[in-house]
Amino acid sequence: MRVNLIVFSLATLILCNTSCKDATKLTKDVKTEKTLFPSKEISLDNETKIDALIAEMTLEEKAGMLHGSSKFATEGVERLGIPKMNMTDGPLGIREEISKDSWAPAGWDNDFATYYPAAGSVAATWNPELSYKFGNSVGQEARARDKDVLLSPAINIIRTPLGGRTYEYFTEDPFLNKKLAVPFIVGIQDNDVMACVKHFAVNNQETNRDFVDVNTDERTLREIYLPAFKASVQEANAYSVMGAYNKFRGDFLCENDYMQNKILRDEWGFKGIVISDWSAVHSTVKTLVNGLDIEMGTRKPANEFFLADKLIAAVKDGEISEEEIDKHIRRILRVLFQVKAIDGTDRTEGSLATEEHYKDAYDIAEESIVLLKNEKNLLPLQLEGINSIAVIGNNATKKNALGGYGAGVKTKREVTPLDGLKNRLPENIKINYAEGYLERYSKNDNDQKIEVTLNTPTTITELDPEKLKEALEAAKKSDLAIIFAGSNRDYETEASDRKDLSLPFGQEELIQKVLAVNPNTIVVMIGGAPFDLNTIKEKSSSLIWSWFNGSEGGNALADVILGKVNPSGKLPWTMPKRIEDSPAHATNSFPGDESVTYEEGIMVGYRWFDTKNIEPLYPFGFGLSYTDFMFSNISTNKESYSEDEDIQIHFTIKNIGDRDGKEVAQVYVSHPGSSIEKAAKELKGFKKVFIKSGATQNAIISIPVKELAYYQVSTKKWVVEKGTYILKIGNSSRNILGEVSIKIN
Ligand code: BGC
Repeated sequence: MRVNLIVFSLATLILCNTSCKDATKLTKDVKTEKTLFPSKEISLDNETKIDALIAEMTLEEKAGMLHGSSKFATEGVERLGIPKMNMTDGPLGIREEISKDSWAPAGWDNDFATYYPAAGSVAATWNPELSYKFGNSVGQEARARDKDVLLSPAINIIRTPLGGRTYEYFTEDPFLNKKLAVPFIVGIQDNDVMACVKHFAVNNQETNRDFVDVNTDERTLREIYLPAFKASVQEANAYSVMGAYNKFRGDFLCENDYMQNKILRDEWGFKGIVISDWSAVHSTVKTLVNGLDIEMGTRKPANEFFLADKLIAAVKDGEISEEEIDKHIRRILRVLFQVKAIDGTDRTEGSLATEEHYKDAYDIAEESIVLLKNEKNLLPLQLEGINSIAVIGNNATKKNALGGYGAGVKTKREVTPLDGLKNRLPENIKINYAEGYLERYSKNDNDQKIEVTLNTPTTITELDPEKLKEALEAAKKSDLAIIFAGSNRDYETEASDRKDLSLPFGQEELIQKVLAVNPNTIVVMIGGAPFDLNTIKEKSSSLIWSWFNGSEGGNALADVILGKVNPSGKLPWTMPKRIEDSPAHATNSFPGDESVTYEEGIMVGYRWFDTKNIEPLYPFGFGLSYTDFMFSNISTNKESYSEDEDIQIHFTIKNIGDRDGKEVAQVYVSHPGSSIEKAAKELKGFKKVFIKSGATQNAIISIPVKELAYYQVSTKKWVVEKGTYILKIGNSSRNILGEVSIKIN
């Protein structure tokens, strides 16, 4: 094996500390996802009972189980002890109870839940254990609200930074995506709740999402858009999957034989159920025969769903057999048994909005915050000599648990950034708060926004002169200023893609003016997707990225600002300098019209930027810390491998700063001699490690050789090419600190 480059000259002097003797820790690393986060397969033990139940059911009763009878439930068959299937959104926590037949809140007073950080935040932790913790915690809340299905996680690939649901999805990278999706699902399902992995598949834009016909080449589909779904099925044993709104190669996803039958069931062995997205079904016989099991959300009375009266008529007319119907009922009964909704004597009871769950939300938020710039070391704040802090920006007080179009959470606790600072700062420090900018939309667009628009609401970018004046006065009279800017969940929202990367509401002007009167200004961005931060990056010495970060978001942010927490978040996507640099835009293939072809192929996210040598504003995997780490002693356990082996990359990380901290070691693989087109690098392993100040830790990242395979379209097989591969280890896709070559024989 050849160690090409070790960035730091001290490298060879570093010795192993106690952790490298910790054999259990090391062996854990080489285990597969299935053993790290053990999942339960759908049991086939109840087949006799299922036969008996099906034999007793009328056709009408069967149809009742195949479609929604209210916004979030299907019918059961009470006389046979089959319950309704109760569902709930979603990614931010358990949605407030919705009325039976409309989207209006049901007005309950016992449905307050924990607001968890958005998926982008979980992804930025790069910590699969936190993803499990999230799933497990929210799964308990689902049970406490008597739900059988949690419509989560949402794992579509972030193809464009403008995607309205970017904050709801994890990442642009298929490997990170699956490593987070699997534990999340296992966590949910450990509580006798079905995860519903959505939106299957290639649902990567909101513009025209109800009908856009997506086309990708086969290799791109397999290598970029499907791996996390496949792992959800094969490693996490997800009990349900949600069919997406859009079309793929001419057929709606919910009636797409290739995706639902051929790939999901025949190839991957999926035994669970496919539930449609809300109003995503367009046919009766075709949808069932092509693999969908439950139709949800149609904006019509329940009997008018495609799988209600029309289905009964289709059976009577001989267009579809009752055996076909029974096949779907059997699947539904299996998963109901699986989560103990039938015959469940010891089903998890769950708990809602407990201090433990708020702590889970805090733990995720705390590890998700990304330090983008700290040039003058203003951060963490040193409070000696500070008497006053200006806190500026609508985002200092803006709440995001509810908002926008799409699922939110009704919660009793959402600590805003201003609250967080008040909670954490000593009382003698005066906070001078000024709203700075107003969240304002132009009238017409705002009206549309309340309907469903496929264009982001147009914002009013002029600052309000009074608000600006207040902000500048606050900044001038304070020892330092913190601006909370960015977007919010009204601006970034389901059902719209953003028009561009610009910061809304005139914030860029505000930030520049505040910086001019008080150079000791820290800029904190709150959002779920990339924005144009070119000027802010240039002008501001200190820049933090935070997210729609849950019930405890403000406390976590204050703890990072004040140094109680050393930031360890890493961007799960590339922040481009210009939207034209991003692959879908550079290839002029977003948003399409009736159809869209993903012209960039496999070159999504950093794969494009790195292969084309385009400098991003901030690269994938990037995030600073209040300490520094040194990587060294990078080696592999062998020089050459066969296809069934695992490559073990050994390396040492030393914390060379004066604070304890966490670092994410990232392994990217290059195959320069490949006979086919490959991205310059692909993430194939990562590990988050906690290291005390001054300590050194040896670590291992294990990569199954099979992970190096590409999808060979002609043979429909995953193929590992023989030859020399370079494993690059670093702490972002652009900061490679060492590399090793290996051979595959
Ligand atoms: C969304 C899904 C969501 C469903 C139910 C749809 O508009 O695409 O993600 O689960 O609504 O709220």
